[in-house]
Amino acid sequence: MATEPAYPIIDHTYDTVVVGAGGSGLRATMGAAEAGLKTACITKVFPTRSHTVAAQGGIAASLKNNTPDHWTWHMYDTVKGSDWLGDQDAIEYMVREAPQAVYELEHAGVPFSRNADGTIYQRPFGGHMQNMGEGPPVQRTCAAADRTGHAMLHALYQQSLKYSADFYIEYFAIDLIMEGGQCVGVIALCMDDGTIHRFRSQAVVLATGGYGRSYFTATSAHSCTGDGGGMVLRAGLPLQDMEFVQFHPTGIYGAGVLITEGARGEGGYLTNSEGERFMERYAPSAKDLASRDVVSRSMALEIREGRGVGPNKDHIFLHLDHIDPKVLAERLPGITESGKIFAGVDLTRQPLPVVPTVHYNMGGIPTNYHGQVVTIGADGDPETVVPGLYAVGEAACVSVHGANRLGSNSLIDLVVFGRATGLHLKENIVAGISQPELPKDSADLSLSRLDHFRNANGGSPTAEIRTEMQRTMSAHAAVFRTDEVMAEGKEKLAATYKRMEDIHVTDKGLIWNSDLVETMELDNLISQASVTLASAHNRKESRGAHAHEDYPDRNDAEWMKHTAAWFTGWGGKGGEIRIDYRPVHEYTLTDDVEYIKPKARVY
Ligand code: FUM
Repeated sequence: MATEPAYPIIDHTYDTVVVGAGGSGLRATMGAAEAGLKTACITKVFPTRSHTVAAQGGIAASLKNNTPDHWTWHMYDTVKGSDWLGDQDAIEYMVREAPQAVYELEHAGVPFSRNADGTIYQRPFGGHMQNMGEGPPVQRTCAAADRTGHAMLHALYQQSLKYSADFYIEYFAIDLIMEGGQCVGVIALCMDDGTIHRFRSQAVVLATGGYGRSYFTATSAHSCTGDGGGMVLRAGLPLQDMEFVQFHPTGIYGAGVLITEGARGEGGYLTNSEGERFMERYAPSAKDLASRDVVSRSMALEIREGRGVGPNKDHIFLHLDHIDPKVLAERLPGITESGKIFAGVDLTRQPLPVVPTVHYNMGGIPTNYHGQVVTIGADGDPETVVPGLYAVGEAACVSVHGANRLGSNSLIDLVVFGRATGLHLKENIVAGISQPELPKDSADLSLSRLDHFRNANGGSPTAEIRTEMQRTMSAHAAVFRTDEVMAEGKEKLAATYKRMEDIHVTDKGLIWNSDLVETMELDNLISQASVTLASAHNRKESRGAHAHEDYPDRNDAEWMKHTAAWFTGWGGKGGEIRIDYRPVHEYTLTDDVEYIKPKARVY
C-alpha cells in the first residue's frame, strides 16, 4: 500500500503568478489580469496591509501643478541622486512614464490632495530641484496628505479585483521552481490551514519588498524580510548593489517609526544641541531638502562631534512647531499622530527627536526596465534574461536609484515598473496556453527546507539568532563604514549564519506556525545581510549611501559599476559568497535626451 506523502500538494496552473501585494505587486497583478491573463497574486499579508501602506509623503512626477517642471529635470535629479550608479535608460523610462502613471492612479480612485484649482497637490522633497539642479526646489511629489501609499494600495487592490485576479492571501511563498535556468512556478504555504500549494506558471513576478528587517531598527514593517531576494539567491542567481542601504533622516528616535520627508518639504527643519540649523553648513543651497544620504550623514556627523540632543546627545531635533497647526492638520495628520504616540510630542509646540533610520534597499534582484530578471550569463553576458522570472518594486534593482534613492521616487518606481511588467507579460505570454509538466523534483527544495526548519531542535531560538544578525548589521553596515568595521561585521555575521544549523523551532505544527514562518524569513534575511556586508566591504570608494571612511571619494574610473553577489546554501549550510560586477548603462533610452555625464555631487 502506498504511503501518504508527508506534505500533500495542491496544484494550481496560472499564466502569471505575482508574489507580493504591495504597490508594485498589485500594479503588475492588475496589468496582467487586465490583459486577460489568468493571474494569481500570492501574499503573506492582506494586500492593504502591505508595507506600501507606510509610504507617506508622496509619489514623484513632473506634473508641474505647483512649480515649473520637466521630465528632463526629474531625470537629472534622479541620476545625480543615484550618484551616477543608476542606469540612465531605465531612469529615462521611469520619469517619462511618471505623469501618466500618476493620472492612472487618479482615475483608479486615489484621493490625492488638491490645489485650489483642483489639480493634484505637489510638495517639495529632498534632491528634487528645478532647471537641471540649477534652480530652487521643485514641487514634484504628488501627495494624498501624508498617507499616499495607503491610498494607492486601496485603489490598486480594488482594480485588481475588478479584473478578476485570484488572491491567495496569507500564503507564504517558500521557493521558486526552476527548470534548466527557467522559472516555471513557485511553492507556497497556506499559513491558515498548513496546506502546501504548487503554482505552475508561465511567469513569476517577485514583488516581495525590501529586507529592512535585517537591521535592528528600521522604518520597514516586520514583514519586510526580503523573501524574493532569499528565493533568488537559493535559485543560484545574484543580487545587485546590495551595499547601498538607505537611512531615512527622520525616523522617530527609539521607535524607528517614519516621519515623512514631506515634513521638511512643508517647511520643517533640523537643529543640533546648539539650536543651529546645521544643514545650512553641509548643503548651503538645498539645506534640509538635500538628498537623503547627505542629510543622514550630516546628522550622524553632528552626533559624532558631540552636538546631538538629549541626555546621551545621540539624536537630532526636527522642528514643525513654527508651521500653522491648520497646515499640519491638513497636510501632515499622520505624522502629527505618530509624534504623539511614539515620542509623546505635540508637534505644534515641541520639536520631535529623530535619528537616521534604515528605510530602503537600493539593491535587489537585477532587472531590465521591462521587469525581466537578468543575470551574468555563462558566456559573460552581463544581462542574460532569466526566462519566466520578473521582479518589481523594492525587491528589484532596475537600477533607477543607483547608490541613493530620492524620496518619492519609490512609489513612482512601483507603479511605472509594475505597469511595464504587466505590458511585457501581455506581449510575451499567450493566455491559457498548455504548460509542460513540472519537473519531478519541483517541490524538493521547498519541502526539505520547510521540513528541516519545522523539526529543528537545536539550542538557538529563531529570535535570538535574528537579534544577533540585526545588531551586527546596525553596528557594522551603518551610515559610515570602514574596512575594519566591515571585516569584523562579516566575521560576526558568518558565525551567526553558522548558528542557523543549531536553530530551534518550538511549534511543530503547520497551522498558523509563526515560529516556522519567521524562521524561513530569517533564512531569507541572513543570506541578504551577508551579501550586503560582503558587497560593501568589496567596494573601495564612497558613493551615495555607501560612505566608506577609508575611501571618502567617489572613484568613477574603477567603481562606476554594479555589484552582483551570489550566496550558496541555506539554514547555516554553505554560506560562500561570490562577487562580480557589471557595467552601468552609460546611455539613454532615446535620442531625446543625452547621457548625463558624471560630475561632483553638491546640494
Ligand atoms: O519620507 C517619506 O515620505 C518617504 C518616502 C519615500 O521613501 O519615498
